Formats: sequence, C-alpha cells, structure tokens
Amino acid sequence: MILNCYFQGILRSQQIRQVIKCGRMASSKASHAEEDKFLKDVFDLSMRQTVQKSRDRCTPVLNFRTPQEIQGRIDLGLHPAGESNGEVLKLCEKVFENSVNTGHPRFFNQLFAGLDSYGFAGSIMLDALNTQGHTYEISPALTVIELEVVKHMLKFVGYEGGEGTFNPGGSYSNMLAMNVARIRNFPDSKVTGVSGLPLLVNFCSEQSHYSAQKNSALLGFGEANCKPVKCDERGKMIPEDLEKSILEAKEKGAAPFFVTATAGTTVLGAFDPFNEIADICERHNIWLHVDGAWGGSALLSEKHKHLCNGVERSDSFAWNPHKLMAAPVQTSVLLLKEKDLLRKSHSLNVPYLFQDDKPYDTSYDLGRSLVACGRKCDAFKLWVMWKSRGDSGFEKQIDKALDNAKYLTEAVKNHPHFRLVIPELEFTNVPFWYVPPSLRGETENEEFFTKLGKIVPIVKKRMQISGLVLVGYTSLPNIPTFFRMTIANEQVEKEDLDFLLAEIERNAADL
Ligand SMILES: Cc1ncc(COP(=O)(O)O)c(C=O)c1O
Repeated sequence: MILNCYFQGILRSQQIRQVIKCGRMASSKASHAEEDKFLKDVFDLSMRQTVQKSRDRCTPVLNFRTPQEIQGRIDLGLHPAGESNGEVLKLCEKVFENSVNTGHPRFFNQLFAGLDSYGFAGSIMLDALNTQGHTYEISPALTVIELEVVKHMLKFVGYEGGEGTFNPGGSYSNMLAMNVARIRNFPDSKVTGVSGLPLLVNFCSEQSHYSAQKNSALLGFGEANCKPVKCDERGKMIPEDLEKSILEAKEKGAAPFFVTATAGTTVLGAFDPFNEIADICERHNIWLHVDGAWGGSALLSEKHKHLCNGVERSDSFAWNPHKLMAAPVQTSVLLLKEKDLLRKSHSLNVPYLFQDDKPYDTSYDLGRSLVACGRKCDAFKLWVMWKSRGDSGFEKQIDKALDNAKYLTEAVKNHPHFRLVIPELEFTNVPFWYVPPSLRGETENEEFFTKLGKIVPIVKKRMQISGLVLVGYTSLPNIPTFFRMTIANEQVEKEDLDFLLAEIERNAADL
C-alpha cells in the first residue's frame, strides 16, 4: 500500500515535470529576460518617482498641467501594434511626472496621505499574487490573514466575537452596513424586497459623509429618506434633534431602521456623542452604525481613544486604514458586532464557486457572505504594515498626527492674520481663514468672513500652480469657504506646517 502510494507519487511528479517542461519549451527565454528587466525598471522608476521624491522636500508636490496639456505631452493613443518596452517605460515616466505625489509631506489635500514602505511592499506582493478573495481555494493564505486582521481590529472597537470584511472604500463599507441593518430588521426582505414594508427611514448628521445619502438612494430607500440631523457648532450630531426626527418619522407611519454616527467628520473632524446616540437607538430598536472611516484610527491611541467612547455600543463600524494609518489606497474594513449577519444578508447558492464538498472548511470561502464576487485581498497590505510596526507603531503615528494638528492650531491662533473656523478642534482637521492685507482692520462680521472666503480659492489656485504645497478648501452651511487642512502623513514635521502658512501669506500678499 505504502509502496503503491510512493510510486503513484513519483509518477505524479514526473507528470508535473513533463507539463512544466512543455510549458517552458513553449515560451522564449529571451522574452522572459526582457519582461523581467521591464519589471525591474518599473520598480526602480516607482522608487525614484514616489518613494525617494516623497523624502525630498525640494521636489514639488505636483507639476500642475491642464488636461489638454497632459494630452499633448503623453502619447495616450492605443494602436494596433504594441510598442517596445523602452517606449512604454518612457510613457510611464511621463505619467509619474504628471501625477500628484500624495506621499509628499506637503500634500494636505485629502484625508489620505503618505507612502508607507511596508504598505507599498504589501501592494506589490498582492499584485504579484493577483488573486481574488472570494474562495479559499484561490487565496488560502490571504483568506486566513484577512480573518486575523479583522479579529485584531474588532478588539479595538470592543466587538470581540464579531465579524468583518475588507471592502473597496468607506462608502462601500457604509453601504454594506445599511443593507445588513435592513435585513436584520426585516429578514424576509432579502428575498421579497422592500415593497411590502413600511417606509424605511435612516438618519445621519448634516455633517456626515455624503455616502450616507448616496447609499440610501442606491439601496432603494431614497435620498429623501436619509434624514439630516442638526449639528452643534463643533460639528457634532445633536442627540435631541435625532430623537425628535425619529419620533416624527414614526408618527407618519415610517420605520426608522438605521442611524449613521461619525467618528471624525470629513470636514471638521468631529466625533458624535456615541453614548447618547446609542441610548436613543436602543430605545427605538434602531441599528447604530459608526462611520469611523477617518477617525476610527483614534482607537489605536491610548491618549486619544476616548474620542470614540461609546462606539462599543454600536452595531457596525466602518474604518479606513488607508486614511490615518497610511495603508495604501484602498484599505477599508466594515466591522460588525454580531457574527453571521453578513452571511444571512448576502448568501446565495452559486454552484460554480461555493461548493460544499471541497477539501476544507468552506466557511473560509469569504465570498459566500459578501455582495462582491471578485474582491482584492486588501487586508494583506495592512497585515504587512501591522507585522512590521505592531500596535505601538500605529499608536505613535496617530499621536504624532494629533500633536502636529495641535501645533498648527496654536500657530493659527497666535498669528495675527489667520483665523480658526472653530475654536476647539478634536482631531487632525484644522479649518482656517487668512486675512489678506486689503481686509486687515475691518470689523469681523459676517460680511468680513464672506470676503475671506472669496480669497481662499484664489490662494489655493496659486499654490496648486506653483506645486509646492496642496491643501483643500470647502464651505459649510452658514460658514463661508475656508482652508480644509488635514494632517494624515506621519512624515509631516512642524516645518511643513510653518511652510504652509508662509506659502498662504506669500500667495495672498497682493490680495
Ligand atoms: C467620514 C468619511 N466616511 C466615508 C468616507 C468615504 O470613504 P471612501 O473615500 O473610502 O469611499 C470618507 C472619505 O473621505 C469620510 O471622510
């Protein structure tokens, strides 16, 4: 018997060798050598153009060009015959030259920034593996890694024993939460749809991310049934207004089923009062979702995790490690307190993918419980980073970002020509205006701030064209346009923040 197995084994490996040999004979060694050289050249190019440039403050953040200028500089056309590796490499170099260096420590335009070497390494390996996360059979190690990362993140939220999944972005994570909540409340609606149900209504603060409204539209509840709840002057949801709105909806016969609270709002970085909101949701049996896409990373810091007090009482939590943790775009996770809701919400019999008679525990086929079929195994990028840094490395990163924000807040407060939009800031968002020479000495009333708002896009445009620093701007209801400064990159130093203020002054000197 043993001998029989042994000979079968030899026969099998001979067959495999035979197959491999045939495969090798079919392709030319020369073309493999050229492809390998191309790959190495592309890696060197990426290192030069991103990793090394993001360490060099003398290089610009961007070379601003209009779409027409870029179209004129790069041969974008796709032709019947392919081009040589050398030509393609030259074109790729131009793509880098006409892109924004988001890893540069003076890129403040978005809620993601920085280029983490370990995350980048994870991305490269993930693309080399080029697989999907729906079945264990095609991504065995990556599947167990995703489960491990999710388990680790659940602990930070206070959801031990829960479940989670990596998704293509925070908007998607928020969408999945809304769908799971609907099915938890109305399980039959997975099959029968929503037409027989009362009007389903959800709530979010007027400063929550726009995905709440979009998802309400996408999932068929309607934009109008995503009810905005008022915020206080710091951008936090007012719980009394939430309860009032829930009662009004109930009086009209609607069924309130979902509340989106936010940990770190997109513009002001506000954290909603989770405990008070959880009390209300418990009273009315409503699913509480926390959108922690931006501020969820505060949970990693002993010093700042109090910002998220009460999130452990929520039902679901969206968290984007590609924002403050600087994981590569995209790395986003949805965590759920209760296990098995993903499966109950999304399972479907798919005989060509999810067979029960596989040689492993098929609950590891994660796609069984998800909407997505093909899905990138993004957790791996984060796992490589987490292995290298540990919890303490991330904690230092978050603490540094908040220290930097504090430094900038003080610098703005103490400068005679800058004005903070709100006096008390909670996170790394530092919204402010600049008073240009022509407006100094004017009474600081509504008209004055409206005038300040008008200069913001002019200064931003000038800075964008110079390419030395990039910062966003926005307005809020009753607040004229201001600089929406956010700090996410660990490489940012105080000198970069001083540089930003000096550049604003320089670019506004004639205004
Ligand atoms: C609070 C908040 N939630 C959700 C999102 C959306 O995340 P994503 O861009 O990954 O879809 C953002 C994006 O900035 C955000 O600030």
